[in-house]
Amino acid sequence: MDQRSTRDAAEIPAVEVVGAPLWDAFDPAAYVDANYSRLHVDDASIMRICGDFFRRHFERHDALSARAGIDVGSGPNLYPALMLLPWCAEITLLDLSPANIAWLERHTGGYPESWDAFWDVLNTAGPYREITDPRGSLGASARVEHGDLFLLPEGRWGIGTMFFTAESMTDSPDVFRDGVRRFVESLLPGAPFAAAFMAGSRGYRVGGHFFPSCSVDERAVAASLAPYAADDLTITRLHDGHALREGYLGMILACGRRRDDTR
Ligand SMILES: C[S@@+](CC[C@H](N)C(=O)[O-])C[C@H]1O[C@@H](n2cnc3c(N)ncnc32)[C@H](O)[C@@H]1O
Repeated sequence: MDQRSTRDAAEIPAVEVVGAPLWDAFDPAAYVDANYSRLHVDDASIMRICGDFFRRHFERHDALSARAGIDVGSGPNLYPALMLLPWCAEITLLDLSPANIAWLERHTGGYPESWDAFWDVLNTAGPYREITDPRGSLGASARVEHGDLFLLPEGRWGIGTMFFTAESMTDSPDVFRDGVRRFVESLLPGAPFAAAFMAGSRGYRVGGHFFPSCSVDERAVAASLAPYAADDLTITRLHDGHALREGYLGMILACGRRRDDTR
């Protein structure tokens, strides 16, 4: 598989899992059309909660450690990376699907107007308000990486997001839990993170293809994070009553910090 020009080969190993015809079939245009062509209430709520969480975290902690951030399983969704902008000189957008990588490379350099509504949610308070050119900032900081979250190095990033990925790539609870662990362990001890999950999903369709999900609830999300997260982990359940995807029961948002066993 091709290695992206933006990849730092020393940091993320080459993709070894070639058995992913499933992700080759992911249609980013259909996914954006179904999920992000307009701003939904749940996504706006998530952005507000995450923006507040990151702001409060960095009021108390040194922001220098968060110069490098990561969004895991970015797919064609830019808002997690937008949430990271104030604290990162460099944001890795990692995905396994070649089609999503192509979409991300095309759109991080200058995203379409439909994403302005998402930025506007964040842009109501500092430090987001201090960013006058979010398109330019995202273009300057984004590093689109074709890679596998199960091959991420440990303890590399100072802030992280993972949205609708660990539960939306498998129907196996073990693989889900391992994905959550790999995400949190890729962060530095003490680093803040936000992770979002579809609740109660048994799978979803993108374009003509069906993708598996692991059905999770708040308890499963909390249990998957608890061994690796500090004790102040918060779990929020959201549902605006508008089911974006067939057969899911709402969204779950987890905000926390990687446990720091060195202290
Ligand atoms: C349901 S989509 C979520 C996309 C986006 N984060 C969002 O918020 O809508 C799941 C994404 O996970 C990616 N993915 C699946 N397995 C992965 C893996 N092992 N490593 C990295 N990305 C993966 C897929 O390519 C897809 O883009």
